[in-house]
Amino acid sequence: MSLLDAATEIRPRAYAPYSGFRVGAAVRAVSGNIYQGVNVENVAYPEGTCAEAGAIAAMIAGGDTRIAEVCVIADSPRPVPPCGGCRQKLAEFAGGDVKVTLATTAGQILETTVSALLPGAFDAGHMAKTGKDA
Ligand code: THU
Repeated sequence: MSLLDAATEIRPRAYAPYSGFRVGAAVRAVSGNIYQGVNVENVAYPEGTCAEAGAIAAMIAGGDTRIAEVCVIADSPRPVPPCGGCRQKLAEFAGGDVKVTLATTAGQILETTVSALLPGAFDAGHMAKTGKDA
């Protein structure tokens, strides 16, 4: 199954009663395994989670830790890019050159990368101490 097929297949299972905006995401781990996720909203709106977060959680629960490719699909006029938080979540497990395919249910496709979505990403290297000031 292609990553786009995997994201498309899972999207209808989204729980989005508040926005009505169902999102499907799929990540392919470097192992080849594919993990799917959907957005899960909550009556306390900030407690909702994005489809990308769901796919990442499934990947970690499945025993994989590195992402080789990402796909996100929604019924939107233009391909919907991941929110800021999801960009950071993807960067935790994906190299900058990892391909991110953003799709609409009408068939529009936008291909980008993790580094294009999150230039200047904060990473563990920024916490490396260079002096004794702590
Ligand atoms: N959403 C995602 O799941 N992924 C995205 O990339 C963009 C937004 C969800 C969050 C919320 O449930 C709904 O779309 C509207 O923001």
